[in-house]
Amino acid sequence: MSRTCEISRAMALAIASAGALLFPTLVSAQTAAKQPTFTKDIAPILQRSCVNCHRAGESAPMSLMTYEEARPWARSIKTRTTAREMPPFHMDKTIGITKFKNDPSLSDDEIQTIAKWVDSGAPRGNPADMPARRQFKEVGAWDFEPDLVVKFPPYKVPASGPDLYGNIYTDIPIKTDRYIQAIQTRAATPQSRKVVHHALSYAVDDPETKEVNADDSVGIDGGDFLVEYASGKNAEVYTGDSGVLLKAGKKAMVSYHLHSIGEEVDAHIEVAMKLHPEGYVPKHIRWSKQLAQSTAELDIPGNSVVRIDGYTVMHKNARILSFQPHMHIRGKRQCLELIYPTGGASAKTEMVSCTNFNYNWHLNYSYADDAAPIVPAGTILHVITWHDNSQQNRANPDPKNWVGDGQRTIDEMGFAWIGWYDLTDEEYKEQLAARKAEREKKTRTTQQQQQQ
Ligand code: HEC
Repeated sequence: MSRTCEISRAMALAIASAGALLFPTLVSAQTAAKQPTFTKDIAPILQRSCVNCHRAGESAPMSLMTYEEARPWARSIKTRTTAREMPPFHMDKTIGITKFKNDPSLSDDEIQTIAKWVDSGAPRGNPADMPARRQFKEVGAWDFEPDLVVKFPPYKVPASGPDLYGNIYTDIPIKTDRYIQAIQTRAATPQSRKVVHHALSYAVDDPETKEVNADDSVGIDGGDFLVEYASGKNAEVYTGDSGVLLKAGKKAMVSYHLHSIGEEVDAHIEVAMKLHPEGYVPKHIRWSKQLAQSTAELDIPGNSVVRIDGYTVMHKNARILSFQPHMHIRGKRQCLELIYPTGGASAKTEMVSCTNFNYNWHLNYSYADDAAPIVPAGTILHVITWHDNSQQNRANPDPKNWVGDGQRTIDEMGFAWIGWYDLTDEEYKEQLAARKAEREKKTRTTQQQQQQ
């Protein structure tokens, strides 16, 4: 140890021992700086990532707008954020693509700050540090000016009982095929927001006119998927001259999950759309389909974790825009891998996304514009799905029982919703070149920064 160090150490000791008497305010101010407080450190995190749902009138069970409201939940906030269950964004960002649109997830630092705040007694801090209240449109307002609002007939949710699943149908008032530019679902009243857990919308053939099999199974039309909704979800806006095809003559179907809240409630579900002008065909049609279903039947014995693999060949060049796993209550995790058509033994693979799954949250992950995979024709989407039929899965109602394929919530499924649009060879080359240029520019900037 050098001499200067010896001296400064001795001085530090002297100051420390005298400090308690000589500089009491200085010492406590220093501790306070390291000690996270609600007003300075926690409120900004809650404002950004939580209060869109955790405020009066919204779907979450409690408001986290003020210190008084958040303080009783401190332990639970630490548990849920450390487990990365809240905010609901369950993508594993240690794997593959890490940039998403509308990503509310917390950084490791933020999660640690919350834990530290809770462990040190969840202090309020200086009221003057409190950030300005985040401004919201009135509860339940649309994110855009809609051209069309489809209102489903209300569904009476009893005061108590098991969770309810099913479909409601209504008409879509369009005369010609149209393209959707932006779409949003909402539970239309404050009471509805409490009972609507999730709602998926589709455009389907009229179920009245469709032949249905005796066992009610095969006649069910998967339909054209329009949009997914879970509490707190924002509008989906299709950027870059793209749109989702909405065919004339179809019925709107909402596939719902509702739960009772101790009083009878009419659940009102509405879907609003902003449409491209009549006759306009956008450059890119955005597809959203259930892909990479395993050809093997699901076979999940009691007390087991089972993996299945499904594959879909993309026959055209494509830009992959979004990924949403679909499983039921045994769903545990799903990964999306790309197998590039390099041919032969040298096939190149890329793991793009892995996400944990919780049936309460059907989350759609939209890749950021500079991260969305651009793939050549012949690429195989490989979807790997894990079901957990053991006790470890807290949602599992019956770990003793075998589970197989089926429509009911207690049966299982395993596929991915993939959103994409096709690219011509020319567009593919252009987009790939643009991506390469972006990456090179970024590398250059980083190198320059490092040299400075
Ligand atoms: C998209 C809406 C949404 C967002 C964003 C969100 N939550 Fe939640 N939160 C919910 C809902 C709905 C529940 C109840 C259902 C559940 O537990 O999944 C919940 C439950 C919780 C619970 C458990 C409450 C209990 O009864 O024990 C905690 C704690 C919590 N959230 C904290 C947070 C924190 C902290 C954030 C931000 C970092 C956050 N949430 C972001 C909707 C949301």
